[in-house]
Amino acid sequence: MITTVQTRPIAGQKPGTSGLRKKTAVFMGAHFLENFVQAIFDVVGAKGKTFVLGGDGRYFNDRAAQVILRMAAANGAARVIVGQGALLSTPAASHLIRLNKTDGGIILSASHNPGGPEGDFGVKFNMPNGGPAPEAVTEAMFRRTEEITEYRILTAQDVDLSRIGRQHLGEMVVDVVDPVADYATLMESLFDFAAIRTLFADGFRMRMDSMCAITGPYAVEILENRLGAAKGTVTHATPLPDFGGMHPDPNPTWAHELMEEMMGPDAPDFGAASDGDGDRNMVVYARGLAGVARSMPTSTAADRVAARMGIGSFETPTGWKFFGNLLDAGRATLCGEESFGTGSDHVREKDGLWAILLWLNILAARRQSVADILHDHWQNYGRNYYSRHDFEALPTAQADAMMAALRASLPSLPGQVLEGMTVTAADDFAYTDPVDGSVSRGQGMRVLFEDGSRMVFRLSGTGTEGATLRLYLERFAPGPEGLDLDPQVALAPVIRAAHALARINGFTGRTTPDVVT
Ligand code: G1P
Ligand code: ZN
Repeated sequence: MITTVQTRPIAGQKPGTSGLRKKTAVFMGAHFLENFVQAIFDVVGAKGKTFVLGGDGRYFNDRAAQVILRMAAANGAARVIVGQGALLSTPAASHLIRLNKTDGGIILSASHNPGGPEGDFGVKFNMPNGGPAPEAVTEAMFRRTEEITEYRILTAQDVDLSRIGRQHLGEMVVDVVDPVADYATLMESLFDFAAIRTLFADGFRMRMDSMCAITGPYAVEILENRLGAAKGTVTHATPLPDFGGMHPDPNPTWAHELMEEMMGPDAPDFGAASDGDGDRNMVVYARGLAGVARSMPTSTAADRVAARMGIGSFETPTGWKFFGNLLDAGRATLCGEESFGTGSDHVREKDGLWAILLWLNILAARRQSVADILHDHWQNYGRNYYSRHDFEALPTAQADAMMAALRASLPSLPGQVLEGMTVTAADDFAYTDPVDGSVSRGQGMRVLFEDGSRMVFRLSGTGTEGATLRLYLERFAPGPEGLDLDPQVALAPVIRAAHALARINGFTGRTTPDVVT
């Protein structure tokens, strides 16, 4: 039986950098999930369509999946392809959307944000190209949530998502699929598995920390089963609803067990970690590279390589959705963000395991250590010292006031000398998509210096508590001198200049960041 439920708009259903993210308790509140999902179906249309559904296994993932299935059926969807146990990593979901030529997919994840009843939850819609919905579509969804008066849902028993195979929910087909198999096969088609197998057979040792999140099953299948890495290579391999209390952000702060092992006496040759939904990691292309794209705050090191190779390089706003058009148009092959996310045109999401396999493939081909490869790069191109400082849970009013004051000062900055460095340009980053001409404004303030140093100030679009200031710092050392400094030491003048310029302490009372990556 289809029920039409009367509802009212709920404030704050505005998707951010990567879908709608809120505290889990907010998502579990009356009509919250239902309103947003109905807004998605109202905007993209559900009748007769096929969607992919799955998530990173965090708390409420299973319940939310059942609600979405009942709503898809009530809205007339023909078929939903669901990962077994309602699990799918974000890149695997992107791949299933493309492989099955579906009309899009719904991904349940808050990525690197902690999970659990006290943690965060998120819902994201991906387009038929497998990539996150562009701003025009998420804006339409937001407008819909502001006028919604009813949603449709089927009254039915839960679908048994533990059983692979076809079932029916009302008129709708539900295909429960192995969440790992198709993705593992895709990876096997992209990389030289035989060479990587030989590397492991020759004694190469690796540690992969899946941080009790979704990449565990994928990493075990690919690294241990298909590539022959030693059993136990993957740790924290079972996805848990609260990620075992871990914070699934693959940076040195949160992946500290991995860092300790890698710095310890019996360190393996290569260490890697991945985030909650598997699209990030902490990385020969047979077809060559059409171009590279990076988000604006990301280190500019890749631009130097692209320039020397004579290929295109693009600077987009933060968020993977901005890479979609470049990938679809064949203008970029590799994309990356400073937040430990890289990927290619094989799917339309960043992809942590892909990036790890890319590195393994490079190591297998070059038979050099990661450290040697980095040093080679610095010798050839100079070193871009780079770091991000996060100031979390700031009172929103203080953060907004600080950003407003900084914005007002931008026009007066060029020509000024800060910490001995001359400012050449300062702006609030706006991006015109080179493929469809759409314009996105207010994407972060950047201050550029004559010597290649930069600082960028942005407020996070994925946080769920107050405001998070992200301060991105970069300093270029052309070499051959000064290539082996500690990054925070090398960046010290840029850090001091940023604090003085934005008056971070004056506005927020903070002098030191909560997280340094
Ligand atoms: C963060 C990252 C950004 C990434 C996004 C989604 O967004 O900084 O690079 O695309 O998560 O995974 P932010 O919180 O900075 O808006
Ligand atoms: Zn993620």
